[in-house]
Amino acid sequence: MSLYANQDAKKQAAAEAALKHLPYGGILGVGTGSTVNFLIDLLPQLELEAAVASSEATAQRLKKLGIEVIDMNQVSGLDAYVDGADEIDRHLHMIKGGGAALTREKIVASIAKKFVCIVDDSKWVDQLGLDFPLPIEVIPMARSAVARKIVALGGDPAYREGVVTDNGNVILDIHHLNILNALEIEKTINNIPGVVTNGIFAINKADIAIVATNQGIEERLSVL
Ligand code: 5RP
Repeated sequence: MSLYANQDAKKQAAAEAALKHLPYGGILGVGTGSTVNFLIDLLPQLELEAAVASSEATAQRLKKLGIEVIDMNQVSGLDAYVDGADEIDRHLHMIKGGGAALTREKIVASIAKKFVCIVDDSKWVDQLGLDFPLPIEVIPMARSAVARKIVALGGDPAYREGVVTDNGNVILDIHHLNILNALEIEKTINNIPGVVTNGIFAINKADIAIVATNQGIEERLSVL
């Protein structure tokens, strides 16, 4: 038995539970995806001064609610960044990029004092990358070259057909990569020429995960 009727009800509950961790009246970094969309709908109650969006889709949604969206160059830092994840582990390392917004998400998260991750418990995993392929954003001309380097690392890259990121690039989804040391693999993949960003968020991990489980909301901190 679950407290929640379905996965969307869990996402909604995680979003509601996140509100107390976010600044009232401040400037918030806002992620991308279906979980964050539930949170965006609640944001008017925080009476934010403004928001920095991690994608065009999020910017549109914020603006529709009357929330001012500012360019990241206008701020030197953010009190908090809130986002979902495709997978998250006990170190609060994440895989992100299912919605192809990973690069801007990583950039906005990097200037925030705190990363609040909101997920339902289907995203909580023992090891990253076993079920969800790791997205990487790649400069289009480098697609095949990057794919060959990924194969040499033991991964199995698949081109995400028909997807162009907000930055005009393409996405490769890497299957079967053994992500035992997320910090190292994040750096290794970022060093491949042509890679803009990879979807491992370990260098800048979450500070708190708000996880909606069948039993209710759990706030989880990193296990070192
Ligand atoms: C988008 C992301 C999202 O945070 C991730 O895909 C989770 O999305 P959802 O909340 O819809 O499951 O990284 O690039």
